[in-house]
Amino acid sequence: MKKSIIANWKSNKTLSEVAYWLNNFPNNEESQKALASLEIILAPPYPFLALAKEIIMERQLPIKLAVQDLSGFGSGAYTGEVAAFNLQDLDVQYAILGHSERRRFLTETSQLIADKVAEALKFQIKPILCLDKPYFTEQARFLSSDSMSACSLAYEPVAAIGSGQAEEAGNLLAVRQELAPLYEAKTLIYGGSVNADNVGAYLKVCDGVLLGGASLELKNFVDLLYVASESLKI
Ligand code: PGA
Repeated sequence: MKKSIIANWKSNKTLSEVAYWLNNFPNNEESQKALASLEIILAPPYPFLALAKEIIMERQLPIKLAVQDLSGFGSGAYTGEVAAFNLQDLDVQYAILGHSERRRFLTETSQLIADKVAEALKFQIKPILCLDKPYFTEQARFLSSDSMSACSLAYEPVAAIGSGQAEEAGNLLAVRQELAPLYEAKTLIYGGSVNADNVGAYLKVCDGVLLGGASLELKNFVDLLYVASESLKI
């Protein structure tokens, strides 16, 4: 199984910065071989999805697309919302849902997040469900059994996000054990201050990592990918 490296750009970057990042992402025989053990997933801001899709196709980049959120409603009269329905034809394969920044700044509830998960699944978009400990039990109560088994779980301790204070990789086994009886999902991703120095440790105990800050600068990100892929050989 490939390990997932998920780049969440949050509300960063302009159109030209997105074009630069993707047009300069390495794509030669050497890089393709080196990165073959990784599933690289990019979540740009919504306005840049179509451009990202175009460059990824044109350059045949080994990058899959994710959204950072989607609507808990279907298509229709929901001004400002982007429905999973709208994403058809954009090659979006994943949706990061329930990120703690959305709970905190946009008052997302576990019910709304569960609705978003269900909407994503209607359109074959795989949810990457973000969870911190206070919501492990509560969020599970709102999900149908089908939703649960279809989600990848991303353990995202709020204190670790953007703080440089990553959670010890050694704690993740206990997290996995805590989540196992609550959720049917088997995939566990870790997010929170992941960087090139610690990514190898997380990939030993998790199925992938979710990056914010460390995904923004192309060089940093590519360096991290190489470190991640080397770490899997050991
Ligand atoms: P960070 O963000 O890598 O900047 O800590 C992680 C996240 O929000 O998942």
